[in-house]
Amino acid sequence: MKIAVLRERRPHEKRVAASPETVKKLIALGASVSIETGAGEGSRIPDALFAAAGATMAADAEAAIADADVVFCVQRPEAAALNGAKAGAVVIGLFAPYGDRDGLAALAANGRAVMAMEFVPRISRAQAMDALSSQANLAGYKAVIDAAAEFSRAMPMMMTAAGTVAPARVLVFGAGVAGLQAIATARRLGAIVSATDVRPAAKEQVESLGATFVAVIDDEFKQAETAAGYAKPMSADYQAKQAALIAETIKKQDIAICTALIPGRKAPVLITEEMVATMKPGSIIVDLAVEQGGNCPLSKPGEVVEVGGVTLMGHLNVPSRIAQDSSNLYAKNLLNLVTLLVDKGTKELNVPWDDEIVKGALVARDGAVVHPQLQG
Ligand code: NAI
Repeated sequence: MKIAVLRERRPHEKRVAASPETVKKLIALGASVSIETGAGEGSRIPDALFAAAGATMAADAEAAIADADVVFCVQRPEAAALNGAKAGAVVIGLFAPYGDRDGLAALAANGRAVMAMEFVPRISRAQAMDALSSQANLAGYKAVIDAAAEFSRAMPMMMTAAGTVAPARVLVFGAGVAGLQAIATARRLGAIVSATDVRPAAKEQVESLGATFVAVIDDEFKQAETAAGYAKPMSADYQAKQAALIAETIKKQDIAICTALIPGRKAPVLITEEMVATMKPGSIIVDLAVEQGGNCPLSKPGEVVEVGGVTLMGHLNVPSRIAQDSSNLYAKNLLNLVTLLVDKGTKELNVPWDDEIVKGALVARDGAVVHPQLQG
């Protein structure tokens, strides 16, 4: 069983789909691992470390992919780059499945089985394969660090002989995986933190991290969580009530960290232009939702802009900004998933097609897109 790892070619992508630790474990599983030279550069993993772990370093993508049974990716590669893999090879990556459907379908050529890490079901058995969580957690941390670096004041309260420095006030939008880590990070830096979400379960989680929960708690709020644990789009009436509460709260904040998302949809607008105008000069908004349209309409994908003294940070692919850790955790997620696809006895690939995790993650097989959420 050969596993191929290509160098990522998309802009803003520094991550790699393997680490020296996972290479060792993949070999113990019975695989040979072929990695394209330079694949780890963006994550500060030199070829020599991969080679020392037992990987074969391939001079180019073609050599890495030749006769591969499994291909590990971070983002979706060009389908043509996979042509040398075996017919029916399994291709696993973060393919943004709701985005470019044609690109996704193209990966399925040659009978390849395409598995999207975003669709790994969030059940306890799959927690160690949950790449959305491993990457969102680091993005939430990095968002606060980015904000602190741009902020012209200190985060903690300081009592000095020359006077007292007031602590920063941070408001986190969306208390999912990224938001909870943003709360924890801002608290560690000494800020006074509050957070808002529409899911009732978020209240207790926010409060257990020592932050204040700010939300309109009505009947709609009590039913805002789907069976899968995600938020539902809220009604116009709820949005108006939420906007009034946020408008009052945001004036007093120094930093807003935006993480609110609804899977497969445009991100909800939570900080309007009018609200930005009420924020203090020097305030910072980090919009992690910018790739899904943003929680603030003024944030610009890939740019840091200033509007009326407020800095809006719209970095793309924030996990890639902390590539060494995000690669290591993502590589572990892939290792844990592929372990499920290997027969322990023969040490060969033997995909359990009926397994709940495989069924959940499989987006294309035998030349067709098969995932229920991608039909129609
Ligand atoms: P996400 O990335 O889809 O959204 C981020 C947050 O934005 C969510 O908490 C969501 O409720 C919130 N949000 C959406 N619309 C909003 C609005 N209008 N106003 C304010 N907030 C809004 O969510 P993520 O981080 O993927 O987590 C979703 C859920 O899955 C959470 O409950 C999390 O705890 C749970 N989860 C469960 C896991 C498991 O293995 N059982 C693993 C990871 C997460």
